[in-house]
This record gives sequence, structure tokens and C-alpha cells, in this order.
Amino acid sequence: MSLLRSDEPHLIAEAVENAAELDVSSVRSQLYAPDGAHRWPRHRLNEVDLEWRRWRIRRYLNADDDPPGSIKVFERVAVAAGLPPATVAPAAAERDGPLTTLTYDEMFPQGPVIAKAMQARVLRQPALRETDEQHAAMLLASTQRRADYLKKISGDTYWWMIGDLISEATRRACVAEAAQLPASAGASYDGGLSPGWDKEHDALVSKSCNAYLGAGPTLISVHEDPYLVFLISERMGRRMYPTRCTYLKYRAGDYLGVHTDQPTCEVSLLFTVDGEPGPMRSYFDRANSDPATLHRWVSDNGHFPGGGQDFVYRPREGFALTGRAVPHARLPQEDGAFIGALFYSGLI
Ligand SMILES: [Fe+2]
Repeated sequence: MSLLRSDEPHLIAEAVENAAELDVSSVRSQLYAPDGAHRWPRHRLNEVDLEWRRWRIRRYLNADDDPPGSIKVFERVAVAAGLPPATVAPAAAERDGPLTTLTYDEMFPQGPVIAKAMQARVLRQPALRETDEQHAAMLLASTQRRADYLKKISGDTYWWMIGDLISEATRRACVAEAAQLPASAGASYDGGLSPGWDKEHDALVSKSCNAYLGAGPTLISVHEDPYLVFLISERMGRRMYPTRCTYLKYRAGDYLGVHTDQPTCEVSLLFTVDGEPGPMRSYFDRANSDPATLHRWVSDNGHFPGGGQDFVYRPREGFALTGRAVPHARLPQEDGAFIGALFYSGLI
């Protein structure tokens, strides 16, 4: 047992390095191919890719996690494409049980990047009745995860600007691309009947009213630009991966109530495509608040609490925010506007 404790950090580092190095470009092509058997949408591909790497890390450490079906599919296609199958560290032969003392939540306090979390946010079902004890236990677990997550983020990385994120030609291509996406495909989402803390997804929620239009090849190429991903990873101090991207359409009167982002959006990179969007309000002084405090804050102050810092970003300029840590809102818009939104999350 004492041998294991001293070996654990080394084994975890080894597992992470193995998982991060895997080149899955051929797996991704197969799962994405429009005429293939799977035809996964890009965000699913990105998120399962990331979650599959986490499963590989856990598998190497001999943790007995049962992966969801999508990870089993990814693993099957990966092995068929010639990647080495998931392996367990040789040290596992010397002892029974996992080679790590960390649970999944302790290892990845940023939360699972699976579609389930997104759906719960968008189509928020009324929670099943829970006892006071269950509620308290879930809130305690959520509070611990947020505390663990905040240790990964420092005040220096709460936000930054990227001066010339896109060229004027790319901005114009985005305008044309967004115009072709059907507005009906967008979904306004509703965080719940009253603003508060969502302890299942470790996020602050409130109401919003805007449209998600999805993306096209131009936005996707900006999202996945290797140099941009490198810059974001450098800033965050760990390797980050593109997860989702979308155009956001705001009509006059649309808004985004105060919230923190879901696990798939550790970093949001926002830029103006067209129009004059009102400011994004970020509450940096609330970033270190615990869930119960955030819950009380929005219960008392509603969707647009006073305070915070307002950012207006000009066309071609990108505003990067660690939105899972920092509560943020967009006040009701005076005019219509289109925003490009690019999201990134880390493996560890
Ligand atoms: Fe957000």
C-alpha cells in the first residue's frame, strides 16, 4: 500500500500522457463521415473523444468504471483502425483493485463532457423528489467538485482578449454562413423556474432567451485552428480541446440570465459576427463563491445582479472567459446581433 501511494502521481501522469498522445484522426473521420455508418455530429465526436481519453486514463489505472455506449463504440472503432487497445499499467499485476485512490469526480472535477449534461441544462426536467438528506448529500458533493475545480483556475486566467481573432474576410464569411442556417433550428433554453444552483451539473442557472443556430465549416475551422487551441491551452496551463461551437442570434430584447457554464464549456471564446451586441457582464468577484452562496445571490438578486464588469468586444476581437468559474450574463439587447461562440474543455 505504501508503495502504491508513492507511485500514484507517477502512474497518473503516465496514464494522462498515454491518453493525450493518441492520434484518433482516422477514428474521427469514420465516425463523422456523412455517408458512414455513424454520422456523429461534430460536438458529439469532440466530446466522446475527450471522455474516451479520460476512460483510457482510468482504465490504465485499473479503475472499474463502466463506460457509456458511445465510449465503447469509440474504442471499438479505434482498435479496428489500428490503435493499441486500452491497457492496464503493469503495476496492476502486483495488486488487486485500482492503482489510484481518486474517484472520477476527484480526478476530473470539471465534470463529464457528455451530452447528458447539456440536455439536462436545455430541457431541464423537474427533478425527482429527493429527501432533505439526499439534497444535502448532493449539494455537499457538488460543493466539493466546485472547490476542486476552482483550484485549477487562477484569477490570472479568468479572462483575456485576443485582438485579431479573425480576419475581416473570415468575419464576412461567418456573416454569410450564419445567414444560411435556419433560425428555427436554434433553441432558446430555460434554466428553470427560478434561478439557482444546479447540483447535478455544478452550475448556476437562470433564464435565457436567444437562439443557437449551430455552425458551418467557417466557424468550425476557426474553432479547431491548431494555433488557437495551442494559445488557449497555454493560457490555461493544460491541454484544451475544442468541444462545441455555434452562432448565437440575439433579437432586440433577448438576454442571457446570469449563469456558469456546463462542463463542456470550460473556456468560452466569443466574438461579434454582426450587429452591435450589448456588453457581456462578468462577475469576477463571485468566481470563488461556493454553490450555496451563489444560490442565495441569484435567489435574492434575480437574473441580472448588480455589480460585475461589462465587456464590449469589437468585430474581429475575441473575448475568452473561464465561464465555468465566473458567473456571467448578457443584459436584454437593444438591437439584434450575431455572436460566434467557441467552447473548449480540458482532458484533465
Ligand atoms: Fe455562458
